[in-house]
Amino acid sequence: MNQFFHKLSISLYFIIIIATILGLSYYGRAYYNLPIEERYYTSTGELNQMHKLLYPSGYIGHNLGIYGTIFILLGLFSYMIRKRYKIFMELGALKYWLDFHIFLCTLGSVMVLFHTSFKFGGIISIGFWSLVIVWVSGL
Ligand code: HEM
Repeated sequence: MNQFFHKLSISLYFIIIIATILGLSYYGRAYYNLPIEERYYTSTGELNQMHKLLYPSGYIGHNLGIYGTIFILLGLFSYMIRKRYKIFMELGALKYWLDFHIFLCTLGSVMVLFHTSFKFGGIISIGFWSLVIVWVSGL
């Protein structure tokens, strides 16, 4: 991969992550800004609809968790396999796979963050904070 394509891929990774953050924040802004205890009892039709879509088991919220996890696993195992097995050596330099690892793991973590709908508490949140620690340790 030459310098041009390397820069292009990094820019694309960056744009996709920023677009995901901005897109989800904008789409769910009214819902995410509601206090947690009010979310279940919203009487406004539109917010009620948003709750059904965006809460962690809602259609969008749940899929964000599922696909975010898949992205993290893909980013993890593709790098590990490329690094360890000689037969994959021809599939590009390891540093490009590390970029891909960072991209998929960051995108996946962002999706998992929105999956939580910013509700941090209880035993299940230990999993989320563990992910945050792994992510920060990567940085
Ligand atoms: C969910 C998030 C992440 C998980 C689960 C994760 C997991 C891992 C694992 C298991 C390895 C070891 C791979 C191996 O040597 O076979 C690794 C390596 C690494 N990761 Fe991540 N990572 C995550 C996010 C990040 C992020 C956000 C960054 C940087 C911004 C990052 C940077 C690195 C670096 C620099 C290495 C070392 C590469 C090497 O020495 O070969 N990771 N990561």
